[in-house]
Amino acid sequence: MLAATLLLGLRNRPAHSLLICTFNRGTQGLSRHAARTCAVSARAPLSTSCTRRQSEASKIESKTLDVLGTAYATDDWTNTPPAILAKTGRNLLHQPSHPLAILKELIFKEFPTFAHYDSLSPVVSTHQNFDSLGFAQDHPGRSKTDTYYVNQNTLLRTHTSAHQLQLLAAISQGEHNVLMQAKNNFAAPRNERFLVAADVYRRDEIDASHYPVFHQMEGVCTFSREEVRDKIRQATTAERDSKTGGACHSDQVAQMVDATVVGEDNPMQSAHSAEEVAFLVKNMKQAMNDMVVQILTKAVAAQQSSGEVSASGSQAQFPVRWIDAYFPFTSPSWEMEVLFQGEWLEICGCGVMKQEILNQAGMPDRIGWAFGFGLERLAMLLFGVHDIRLFWSSDSRFVGQFSPGRINSFRPFSRHPSCAKDVSFWLPAESTFHENDIMDLVRETAGDLVEGVKLIDSFTHPKTGKGSRCYRINYCSMDRNVTNEEINVVQELVRKRMVEQLGVTLR
Ligand code: PHE
Repeated sequence: MLAATLLLGLRNRPAHSLLICTFNRGTQGLSRHAARTCAVSARAPLSTSCTRRQSEASKIESKTLDVLGTAYATDDWTNTPPAILAKTGRNLLHQPSHPLAILKELIFKEFPTFAHYDSLSPVVSTHQNFDSLGFAQDHPGRSKTDTYYVNQNTLLRTHTSAHQLQLLAAISQGEHNVLMQAKNNFAAPRNERFLVAADVYRRDEIDASHYPVFHQMEGVCTFSREEVRDKIRQATTAERDSKTGGACHSDQVAQMVDATVVGEDNPMQSAHSAEEVAFLVKNMKQAMNDMVVQILTKAVAAQQSSGEVSASGSQAQFPVRWIDAYFPFTSPSWEMEVLFQGEWLEICGCGVMKQEILNQAGMPDRIGWAFGFGLERLAMLLFGVHDIRLFWSSDSRFVGQFSPGRINSFRPFSRHPSCAKDVSFWLPAESTFHENDIMDLVRETAGDLVEGVKLIDSFTHPKTGKGSRCYRINYCSMDRNVTNEEINVVQELVRKRMVEQLGVTLR
């Protein structure tokens, strides 16, 4: 069972609330046309909990590890392999024609009053990534099977939330060296609202929609309590006026129907009043809703102009639903899903920021909300990219199809034939085996030649009690044909390393 599916299966899914977003494009209702097959599956958010055994695999021998020009001392937490380190310098978000960079800019434009950060180093402290956000010591996200550690105190960020406290503290203390990293810091260098776009790293399975490096966008929006008090007062007056025949502030863009309740299961924090929470939640949901509608509208327009769908067959409404969630650094918390072309897509996690974070940052008089979402999933939809590995391709037939500021549907170039190889083995008796060790080992050996790794058989021998596994490895190059001989050499190396590094017995 793949980790993401398993973790999501554990998630508590109470009655969905429904938020319907509509945008003005004539009288068309919600129409579903033949859904493009876009393999976009959910990645386990950092909200889930389950226990995993640590693994001793992927030990790295040398005493220091060089990451982006800095040498870090290694220890027995070090588990970041060279193939992953190589990704830290790729900077896809800085290539103006790259689909992920185009999407990033699109979102930056949706939040013109926020500071925009997109060049914060992926190397962060364990404190930044976990402790500063209130992650419990035994949270599974901290385990070596899930996270790439440089050493015990340093890791490759697993999410952009790692920068929340650091940036808020820098804003509150006016640390210019940090604030100057914002792309648009000229008008308001100490802006308490910001977006962070960045590469994030998680040990994960391999398939068309999972890759151990992906990109996230974090949004943090804070308000002074005084400002919130004024806004609540104004809203109450406006409501009273509308009841007595005053101006009606109906919203043409988004119609919201939202049945989630802030209560025992998804509680507000004792530091906040019910009015403050109601204000923050409404403001946050509206902002996210508007952003998603804007982006999906552009996706539909791109499909229409490429002739992929006709104007009459395209989607005009995007129902959004909110699902109660748990994150250590927000409460209440939700995940947002949107219905796009017949599929519910998990877009992001969000919630009211834990007040401890703002207090620690030196902003006890402010309250706020935060969201975080993966860029790949939306970019796959927006640009019609069906395999997440393509984002890492430097093949001109991929990169040459895009240009800055433009959304267009990717025209797949001819697929090169794939080649499947199976490997069966007995697990070691003292088993510390974790599936992600296989994933890393295969990727480390075969690089981007590996298209997917799938468990196809698993059983326990009735007499010896030994566990057996069979994995199917699919090899396929994005840009050339591979020969069977070439793949045999790679497969042999994979088998050899499995024995050496994971202690399995091949069958
Ligand atoms: N960092 C969370 C994740 O990666 C998403 C998130 C961000 C949730 C901000 C709430 C607020 O799963």
